[in-house]
Amino acid sequence: MNSRVIVFVALLCATGLCVLLRGSMPEFPQLQISRCSCDKCLTEEEPWLMQHLNKSVQPFLSADYSLPEDAFNWWKRLQLESRDYSTYRTTVERLFQMFPPSPDLIESSPDRCRTCAVVGNSGNLRQSHYGPLIDFHDVVIRMNTGRTKGYEADVGTKTTHHIMYPESAMDLDNSTHLVMFPFKIQDLEWLIKAFSTGFSGRSYVPIKSTIKGNKDLVIVANPGFMRYVHEFWLDKKGRYPSTGFMAVILALHICDEVHVFGYGADKDGNWSHYWETLKNKKLKTGVHPGSHEYYSILQLAEQNKISFYTGY
Ligand SMILES: *[C@@H]1O[C@H](CO)[C@@H](O)[C@H](O)[C@H]1NC(C)=O
Ligand SMILES: *[C@@H]1O[C@H](CO)[C@@H](O)[C@H](O)[C@H]1NC(C)=O
Ligand SMILES: *[C@@H]1O[C@H](CO)[C@@H](O)[C@H](O)[C@H]1NC(C)=O
Repeated sequence: MNSRVIVFVALLCATGLCVLLRGSMPEFPQLQISRCSCDKCLTEEEPWLMQHLNKSVQPFLSADYSLPEDAFNWWKRLQLESRDYSTYRTTVERLFQMFPPSPDLIESSPDRCRTCAVVGNSGNLRQSHYGPLIDFHDVVIRMNTGRTKGYEADVGTKTTHHIMYPESAMDLDNSTHLVMFPFKIQDLEWLIKAFSTGFSGRSYVPIKSTIKGNKDLVIVANPGFMRYVHEFWLDKKGRYPSTGFMAVILALHICDEVHVFGYGADKDGNWSHYWETLKNKKLKTGVHPGSHEYYSILQLAEQNKISFYTGY
């Protein structure tokens, strides 16, 4: 946004001409009051972004949010939930007796530039030396079994938000937000038990019974947000979006500037995590629309909505 234009408009308003100008505003779509202090802010008014981004969709659950029943019905199919809507609601009520009733997000402001680094787990981070660059962001989002110890030079040391589900859970330090992406009611129950009595249920893989972390920094993704990502960002492709893809869209909702690291294959086309050596050379992305998601992320970069770092 050209600051001289803003000053000019402000001067016009001061002289009362603002009223006259208003009628002609649509012809000058670039004349918007800036929403943030970054060089460039994400503006929903852009036609391309408007088809996908809906900032009224709440990314996180809060005590006073009520999930529409049709969104619950979409969500319950993800991992074949057999329990009903009222069980979901009672569980969410119990959740907020234990965890903060609303997520502590940084509000947007014209004099603030909220920068996010979203750090995936791709082997393309090896030898990238992105560590200091990643740590430079206000918000650093990591996910699943992503780790920093031993990989600081390439992935950094800071983690403000760590996205997980029970099957991918990791202990956290007490300054990191645990961001739960729930795929079934049991995932919400796990959260309650893992911070109290310990969880003894089963899942499709063995899961941790307890977790170390700061209970006051727990936030839970809204199943309605997951559905919105599937419908508006992925054209309903695949059964449901991957954690990694949802993390990128989440960042678009809570930050003004989004930088994405550690996604996709490495420069030889191999898929692996940065902390392991490649075992399965034909690694696929299962129920997730893998290549479509990757294409969508590249498209976001092409449209200058995110910066995308390949590591090479
Ligand atoms: C955006 O999301 C809100 C809240 O879910 C919804 O009411 C509204 O219809 C959505 N807008 C569009 C254009 O889909
Ligand atoms: C976080 O952990 C540090 C060191 O373990 C401790 O000194 C501090 O009091 C803790 N803060 C909270 C809010 O628990
Ligand atoms: C990556 O892929 C190439 C070509 O498919 C292969 O030759 C190489 O061994 C792979 N690298 C690793 C680390 O496995």
